[in-house]
Amino acid sequence: MEHTVEIDWQKIDEIIEKYNSNREALLMVMQDISDIYNYVPPDVVPVLVYKLGLRESLVYSVATFYKTISLEPRGKYIVHVCTGTACHVRGADRIMDALAERLDIKEGQTTDDLLFTLEGVRCIGCCASGPVITVNKETHGGLDRTSAVKTVELYNQHVS
Ligand code: FES
Repeated sequence: MEHTVEIDWQKIDEIIEKYNSNREALLMVMQDISDIYNYVPPDVVPVLVYKLGLRESLVYSVATFYKTISLEPRGKYIVHVCTGTACHVRGADRIMDALAERLDIKEGQTTDDLLFTLEGVRCIGCCASGPVITVNKETHGGLDRTSAVKTVELYNQHVS
């Protein structure tokens, strides 16, 4: 399925103007755009290049370097499975597998309905509660396969 979003170009202009079209604000501009769409739609890239007066390669470098920025569509809910050592020994792999199976995607992918993106992350600093996942900014700990799946399902009762 083709992922597409309707881009609000006026909003994009407002973000660029908020930073006075300053090329050094590229990361902030991309972050603000990501806050709206959960990713930076590729159609926006030429506009950033033109309005901020920078090289296209720089935009791609930022998207590659910063994990919070993506040029690929991402879900409304970003599910991060902690794969740090403490969570790993408590079964993070099994949780990742269970969620991947439930959402019918692989780690790093987004569901076709753009609801969920599943990613592994390093220690998020709640090791005592491991294994831990986060869904957007909410943290859920002490999970097993079943409770991890139930947790994610609560974000959308209609996941099929
Ligand atoms: S290893 Fe998972 S929170 Fe630290």
